[in-house]
Amino acid sequence: WRFLPLLSVIALTLTGCGNEQLTTLLPKGEGSEMQFNLMMLSLYIMIGVFVVVALIYTIVLVRFRRRGESDNEIPEQTEGNVVLEILWTVVPIILLLILAVPTVMATFALDEGTEKVPEGATVVKVTAHQYWWEFEYPDLGVKTAQDLYIPSGERVYFELASKDVLHSFWVPTLGGKMDTNTATVNKMWLNAQEPGTYYGKCAELCGPAHALMDFKVIAQEKEDFEAWAESMKEASSQASTDQAAQGEEIFANSCIGCHAVGADGGNTGPNLTNFGDREKVAGILDHTDENIKAWIAKPSEFKPGNNMPAFEDQLNDEELNALVAYLNGLKVEE
Ligand code: CUA
Repeated sequence: WRFLPLLSVIALTLTGCGNEQLTTLLPKGEGSEMQFNLMMLSLYIMIGVFVVVALIYTIVLVRFRRRGESDNEIPEQTEGNVVLEILWTVVPIILLLILAVPTVMATFALDEGTEKVPEGATVVKVTAHQYWWEFEYPDLGVKTAQDLYIPSGERVYFELASKDVLHSFWVPTLGGKMDTNTATVNKMWLNAQEPGTYYGKCAELCGPAHALMDFKVIAQEKEDFEAWAESMKEASSQASTDQAAQGEEIFANSCIGCHAVGADGGNTGPNLTNFGDREKVAGILDHTDENIKAWIAKPSEFKPGNNMPAFEDQLNDEELNALVAYLNGLKVEE
């Protein structure tokens, strides 16, 4: 008992140290709200069952305890009790039904419309890679990575697949999660009730950098989202300074085989059309010039096991600076 205060402090600290953006307990979307309500329902039922069992247990302990030396009689022996047996069979059945019916209903609701997407809804093809996320909008002709832009206040439909191994697409505050496979396409929808930035994670062990496979969901008002998609389509890689122009040339020689800007470039690495807008480098590092340079020089230092080659021996400091200037100029947002 002496340690109880200490234990409660530890428990409190542990619950407080997570990013509140990565909790399922503060739902910000229709799907996560359904899931949250199911969690609370089962929690209430469990508390109810616990209280009843603990109460009976305490009563039995107190009422039938041994009373002194003289209390040595064998207690009354009972062979079954029909009423009790029916009761403890029927009550759990009812409790399980109370849990099962809403769960099955929510399961179907979370799948609603994924086979035949409603007219006009936004569809995003998600492809998971070791260790980054690719987002393609087939109806809009836009492709991006790491930052997933969606319109808020409506359901957005996802087609999920993987390029290499099993990953799992999870935005705790909005809903999910759903595995991404190589052979099949999984479908789901998410809805962000309010505009905002929501954090996503890979939720399936996929290699040494699994824990670093983060992404962001940027939910915007419909017209802002449409404007974003429009500027993504029109985005060009025009360098605005001499330094950036030098960077563009390096990019065209060293990077474009894997990374695309706009429609030009390879597909094995993240699309960089709006790299300058991203808050994070590689989904995990603060967006500073130093971090970009450090990443390009030695990516596996930050994400062990990732497929990007190190450029520390191929690019000198001046070239890295030029590349950074070019990359930071890749913006579509004002
Ligand atoms: Cu991808 Cu874990």
